[in-house]
Amino acid sequence: RPIALIGAPTDIGAGVRGASMGPEALRVAGLQAALQGHGLQSFDRGNLSGPANPWQAPVQGYRHLPEVVQWNQRVFDAVSAELRLGHLPILLGGDHCLGLGSISAVARHCAARGQPLRVLWLDAHADFNTSALTPSGNLHGMPMACLCGLGPGPLTQLAGGMPGGGPALRAQQIRLIGVRSVDPGEKRLVHQQGLEVFDMRYIDEAGMRQTMQQALAGLDADCHLHVSFDVDFLDPDIAPGVGTPVPGGPGYREAQLCMEMIADSGRLASLDIVELNPALDLRNRTALLAVDLVESLFGKSTLMRVPPPEIGT
Ligand code: ARG
Ligand code: MN
Ligand code: MN
Ligand code: MN
Repeated sequence: RPIALIGAPTDIGAGVRGASMGPEALRVAGLQAALQGHGLQSFDRGNLSGPANPWQAPVQGYRHLPEVVQWNQRVFDAVSAELRLGHLPILLGGDHCLGLGSISAVARHCAARGQPLRVLWLDAHADFNTSALTPSGNLHGMPMACLCGLGPGPLTQLAGGMPGGGPALRAQQIRLIGVRSVDPGEKRLVHQQGLEVFDMRYIDEAGMRQTMQQALAGLDADCHLHVSFDVDFLDPDIAPGVGTPVPGGPGYREAQLCMEMIADSGRLASLDIVELNPALDLRNRTALLAVDLVESLFGKSTLMRVPPPEIGT
């Protein structure tokens, strides 16, 4: 199905400026040409526009809440429009607060069609803070919690909320992968919500292959798979261009395997690429790496490989 690239050039939810340049860095790194090289049809929808970053202190535990709501409404509308057209939307962030608008649109789309949804959240962080728990007030640390119904009304009920009035996601639909930095209160909440988390300790012990087999286990044939790829998922040694780097992430081979196994599932239906910060990058290498990994996510493989029968089926 055709791919639609949607740029959202903002760092409104982050605590470091620069993720607003992410969409252009991904374009310069050749994202569209790479997709086309695999015979995939794609449209670049250009960039959304939204409020400037006023760079203010948090108010009642939230930094820039009204602006974050506005940006997410625009992302919601743009992603919804592409899903209606039968396209596969790729959101080019921008910081990870935008995952809220993107996934809210996907959840609404799936609910309307009675389609099952699974979300893979590839991230060094759990992004499961609330205004009471956050150490920073930065909303890019809260989108997971908001999607699960924990957060301010304008974000948990974005664009009027889900048909039944509940949260966009339930914990059973989510897999967090690559996590290695969770704040103390956030840790308790993640546990209490019963989220399935494949943290780096788990990946060290079980390996990426078993991790992804489990994260992808039990996908229905008609399941919509959404991948929210926070670039700080990757080890900062290979991906320095992020605002909140955490040592000890997946290396190049592990990240490739992760993406290849998602591709093998054949269910990928929407994607976010977020938190890329060109102001902190080295000659655009993090953007180039992201494009390389996205190629694998869309099925690039070294050989014309038939997956071993125990994988993916
Ligand atoms: N847990 C920290 C916070 O809430 C960092 C969050 C980083 N999130 C991200 N999407 N990079 O402030
Ligand atoms: Mn994140
Ligand atoms: Mn992160
Ligand atoms: Mn490549």
